[in-house]
Amino acid sequence: MTESPAVETFSLVKQFGAFVAVDHINLQVNRGSFFGFLGPNGAGKSTTIKMLTGLLAPTSGKLRVLNFDISEQPMEVKRRIGVVPEDLNLFERLTGAEMLSFTGRMYGLRRDEIAHRSKELLELMDLQEEPTKLIVEYSHGMKKKLSLACALIHRPEILFLDEPFEGVDAIASRTLKDLLMRLTARGLTVFLTSHVLEIVERLCSDIAIIAQGKLLASGSLDELRQGISVEGDGQGPVSLEEYFIQVVGGDRGSSNEEMLDWLV
Ligand SMILES: Nc1ncnc2c1ncn2[C@@H]1O[C@H](COP(=O)(O)OP(=O)(O)O)[C@@H](O)[C@H]1O
Ligand SMILES: [Mg+2]
Repeated sequence: MTESPAVETFSLVKQFGAFVAVDHINLQVNRGSFFGFLGPNGAGKSTTIKMLTGLLAPTSGKLRVLNFDISEQPMEVKRRIGVVPEDLNLFERLTGAEMLSFTGRMYGLRRDEIAHRSKELLELMDLQEEPTKLIVEYSHGMKKKLSLACALIHRPEILFLDEPFEGVDAIASRTLKDLLMRLTARGLTVFLTSHVLEIVERLCSDIAIIAQGKLLASGSLDELRQGISVEGDGQGPVSLEEYFIQVVGGDRGSSNEEMLDWLV
């Protein structure tokens, strides 16, 4: 028996009123892959991740996470995944350690497990120095790191990260990248969204590109590069940036030079 994919969607649609935010998306993410969901602002990345993690119900279509249908067995999915949502969802009047402890108890971990894991996670995220500091006093980057620690405490099989590097400084983002690479090397599946090409290019093994709710391309990073070198002018693999601009449509108005002349 072959192992089921970590994530699979079948003609997934999300409408907000008449507006189609996610338009018949078919995705497949293999277990153990480091998957980058790439697209410009407003493409439908967060909406997709919210459906995959049970925060939003699809308008139509199906999705399976770790071979469970999330609408039928939400708890089976939720106990096996970790999520760092766009808005982080932290209780700001708790300290970092309290937040981790609360999260661990929610997942039914034992007290000694929680103590041990919290201590290590806080150290890893470099948050151990300020045990009495409330989350409300944290910087944005500190909140991101704490949210990631909360998403890891129950040892999830898949980690969903919505724009994890937004607002994180270079040092923290290095820690984060190293950690994510180590985790995927040990078999964890990472599903991250980003509008930053370089991040996806550097980290991910597999990629899908979305724009205006539609899936434009998906495959391994190498495959996508190969694809473009065939279609292109016979040169070697191009950077993902060129590919991204090509598939998303780089015709950002040739009149740009005339615009903004009052400003520049
Ligand atoms: N709750 C909502 N109600 C109405 N429109 C929404 C809602 N959530 C997202 N949208 C719209 O759906 C589109 C996709 O949004 P989103 O998934 O957040 O994009 P991304 O994360 O790729 O930047 C955007 O046009 C956004 O304005
Ligand atoms: Mg988003």
